[in-house]
Formats: sequence, structure tokens, C-alpha cells
Amino acid sequence: MSSTINFAIIGCGRLGTNLSIRLKEAGHTPVGLSSRHLESIQNANEFINAQIIDTIPWNVTSSANVVFITTPDDSIETVCQQLIENNGFNSNAIVYHCSGSLSSSVLAAASAAGLNVGSFHPVQSFPVIYIEPNPFERIYVSVEGDPIAIELGKKIAIDLKASVVEVSTDGKKLYHAAAVVASNYLITLLEMAKQFNIHAGLSENEALAILKPLIQGTLNNIDKQGIPGALTGPISRGDIKTIRDHIQKIQQIIPDFLDLYQTLGRYTVPIAQAQKTISTDSASLLNKQLAKK
Ligand SMILES: NC(=O)c1ccc[n+]([C@@H]2O[C@H](COP(=O)([O-])OP(=O)(O)OC[C@H]3O[C@@H](n4cnc5c(N)ncnc54)[C@H](OP(=O)(O)O)[C@@H]3O)[C@@H](O)[C@H]2O)c1
Repeated sequence: MSSTINFAIIGCGRLGTNLSIRLKEAGHTPVGLSSRHLESIQNANEFINAQIIDTIPWNVTSSANVVFITTPDDSIETVCQQLIENNGFNSNAIVYHCSGSLSSSVLAAASAAGLNVGSFHPVQSFPVIYIEPNPFERIYVSVEGDPIAIELGKKIAIDLKASVVEVSTDGKKLYHAAAVVASNYLITLLEMAKQFNIHAGLSENEALAILKPLIQGTLNNIDKQGIPGALTGPISRGDIKTIRDHIQKIQQIIPDFLDLYQTLGRYTVPIAQAQKTISTDSASLLNKQLAKK
């Protein structure tokens, strides 16, 4: 396959449109765009000017040597099957989807027809269409699937100015759980912290605003010192009284969060031990405080 690709995108939503814009910018040729609604295709095509646009996917894919199925996760398998049933793929096509949680096995229909398949997952959220800056720059894309799909996926990711990691098919679920923890559950953690501040008397705005430099500082520390090196605070210091005070106050004022606070604390103790800032005795005293009552 030449270094530039002829690509088709099925699913002109947030990811599909952003991806098409950057693939074209990188010198690849948009041969086809398809989506359920013509309006979505036309919106995307304003930036892309593809050779063929159509609401019927198999009408736009035949001259593509790379097809990205960027529909919602639940439709990927069906769209792939429909493309096979309607002879939509070029015999050399490589087929990708962009789901984080699904592996390339949902493209089994294409695989059974002898095509190479893969998943190509940008580890970023794309809430809108970004004209500038390139949302792929400085992010990671994971690739998984058949060796040929992995090899090309890596090249495409680099063309988009992203960094790239390879994930095994079996590893895909846990890899996605990691992203959910780091992104979605961070929101849950910050909601807990915000609620503590509100119950401490801070305004709604102050409650979150004062935490942002702290979070940024922690990210900077992780960059410089990694984990466990970046851990600070009462568990890292073995400050049992502070933890006891927190637990008493949370129980009294906002008990719904006690379980989460204690659970996270219990998972923080071994990090402090790995950091070698607390003794085994301090660790067991902390664990006693942090045990569910
Ligand atoms: N957005 C992100 O942050 C992000 C990040 C990483 C990975 N992803 C992955 O990217 C994929 C797309 O996500 P998204 O956020 O871009 O979703 P989205 O904004 O909802 O876009 C999906 C598009 O697919 C189209 N579509 C739905 N069913 C279809 C079908 N049967 N045939 C053809 N087109 C169909 C919809 O078309 P109409 O508009 O025409 O109805 C919609 O525009 C998912 O696999 C997701 O996991 C998304």
C-alpha cells in the first residue's frame, strides 16, 4: 500500500468528522463519506470535499483502501456486516473502528471475508468539531488487530501527529477501563472534593476553582516523579490523626462519601509504602482507620 491512503468514513459524527479533517490535512484522499442523515454528511463534507457522499455506506466505500466505521459502538458490527453483504469493500481494504472498549473482533464479518481489521482509538474526548488546533496532536492513539492493520494504523496515527501504542485484543477491555478511571472517575473524585468544600462553606465556584491549581500541580509532579513519587498528603506522611478527623467529619456532615473516601485511602496506603515514607506500623494504623465500619 502506498504511503497515502484512499479513505472512506462511515458515521459523520464528532470523531468521524474530526478524523476525516485531519486525514485529509495529512495528505490522504477522502473518497467517500456516509452517515445515517444526509445533513451530517454535508456538514462534514464542507471541510472534506469527498469524491462520493451517500447515506448508503456501500455506495461510498468501493474505491477506499481504508474504511473507518465511526458510528456509535452499538452499530459498528451491523454496519460492517451490511458492507460485506452488499459487497461494499474493495478486496484490499483495511477496516477500522474507533471504539475504545470494543476490539477488532466486532469486525469479524470483514475478517471472515479475508480483509485485515483493526481498532484505532484516539485516547481523547471529541465533544465538537475542531477546526484548529489539531485535536490529535500530542494525544495517544491505540491500535489493535491484525498485524497489517496495526502497522498501517501506527503510520496513520503518526500522520495525524499523535503518538501511538499497541494494545492486545485481550487487553482492550482493561485498557478502556483505565481510560474510564482516569477521565470519567476523575470527575467523580472532583465532585466529592467539590461537595466537601461546599459543606465547608465555600461557594459553588470557589469549591472547584481552588482545586484546579492543586490538580495541575499533582499532574506536574506525576510528570516529574511518577507514581509513587508524586504522592503527598496525610497518608504519605503517616498522619493518622488527620485521617481520623476527616473520617469523623465526613461521617457527621456528608456520610454518602465516607465509603469512597475510605476505599481510596486504603488504596493509597500501599502507594505510600512503595514510596517508603511510612512504616509498616503506620500503614496498619492507617488501614484500621480506613476500614469500613
Ligand atoms: N467522540 C469522542 O470523544 C470519541 C473518542 C474516541 C473514540 N470515539 C469512538 O468513535 C465512534 C463514534 O463516536 P462519536 O462520539 O463520534 O459518535 P457520534 O458523534 O454520535 O457520531 C456517530 C455518527 O454515526 C452515525 N451513525 C449512527 N448509526 C449509523 C449507521 N447505522 N450507519 C451510518 N452512520 C451511522 C450518526 O449519524 P447521523 O448524524 O447521520 O445520524 C452519527 O453522526 C465510537 O466508536 C466511539 O467509541 C469517540
